[in-house]
Amino acid sequence: MLSCQKHLFSLPQDLHYLNCAYMSPLPLRVEEAGIAGIRKKRIPADIFPGDFLSGLENVRTRFAGLVGAGGSQRIALIPSVSYGLASVARNLEIASSQNLIILTRQFPSNVYAWRRLAATTGAEIRTVAPPERVADRARHWNERLLEAIDRDTAVVAMAQVHWTDGTQFDLVKVGERCREVGAALVIDGTQSVGAQPFDVGGIEPDALICAGYKWLMGPYSLGVAYYGSRFENGLPLEETWLSRVGSDDFPRLIDYRDEYRAGAVRYEPGEISNFALVPMLDAALELIAGWGVDSIAAYCRELTDLLVAESAMAGFEVESARWRSGHIVGLRMPHGLDPKKLQTELADRKISVSVRGDVLRVSPSVYNDEADIMALANALHDVV
Ligand SMILES: Cc1ncc(COP(=O)(O)O)c(C=O)c1O
Repeated sequence: MLSCQKHLFSLPQDLHYLNCAYMSPLPLRVEEAGIAGIRKKRIPADIFPGDFLSGLENVRTRFAGLVGAGGSQRIALIPSVSYGLASVARNLEIASSQNLIILTRQFPSNVYAWRRLAATTGAEIRTVAPPERVADRARHWNERLLEAIDRDTAVVAMAQVHWTDGTQFDLVKVGERCREVGAALVIDGTQSVGAQPFDVGGIEPDALICAGYKWLMGPYSLGVAYYGSRFENGLPLEETWLSRVGSDDFPRLIDYRDEYRAGAVRYEPGEISNFALVPMLDAALELIAGWGVDSIAAYCRELTDLLVAESAMAGFEVESARWRSGHIVGLRMPHGLDPKKLQTELADRKISVSVRGDVLRVSPSVYNDEADIMALANALHDVV
């Protein structure tokens, strides 16, 4: 069992930071990798052509290991989720008779790409909503999703865990259903990969797109994506030189080559070899591999289980254990509780969480401990 890892971060002692779903604090080692990377450009003569490629390959390999993707071939670095999804949308052939499935209140990056595609093709967007406030809300939501997928479904674009409240989706079942009808399964893994297991082999997504600055503990502006066989020969958004065969042979860059290097690198944008950000994400993924995703998940689950028990006593409602993630928990506020009052109280006590609609979203990670959870629990008891 993992112990609290706060000593590896520089969080202030008096701050209860329970908001990794907003962004992770930077681990010290990741910060150091970034500073070393910035300093590298002091002496450009020490930056060699191979350096443009080697850091990227390290990150691809680590991420492939994290999600069980086999090797680095299908992994690409991306600047954002919206960018990674734009590559997906560009390479899907969709007819006006087809439909695209998303979930209610999905993160906007995983909505606008589909709105654009629907507008240009005439395809229908189906938004699958949960039932309002019934017992087993998430189980019903999962069922509704499976029912919505039919022979005309071209794409199901969703997440493993809902970003607003931690609702868990059964991606193995969704993957099976997508394969039955020939639909592409596109997953935004931003709010789950790094905090709970994700198995490309078991789920068989067509694409998995992740921002790097939350549960992957990396810097802002660098994420990672997996593109499956559907995207093997696709067209990238940009025609970069680094994605070409022979691009590390700098003296011969003007012997233009139209062939892309093997794998998903064609989906990487220009200047992706950022000498500060890439080593940061590499260091972050190394840390996560060292802790182990199973251990991170178990650690977070223990903290959120404690919070759920405490907050239930204060009148907050929470999804059943089967259908909530261990690292993001949405506490539905009791009727009559003023969210503004709650937020002020939490800010006064230096407790950082997020309010999303009528839900208090709490997302602990390895730098939190029971004291953080009890500080929040006490605040909830006092404010209701
Ligand atoms: C589920 C989810 N996806 C994606 C993002 C970030 O998207 P982008 O990288 O396009 O800014 C966030 C940020 O909060 C998120 O919660």
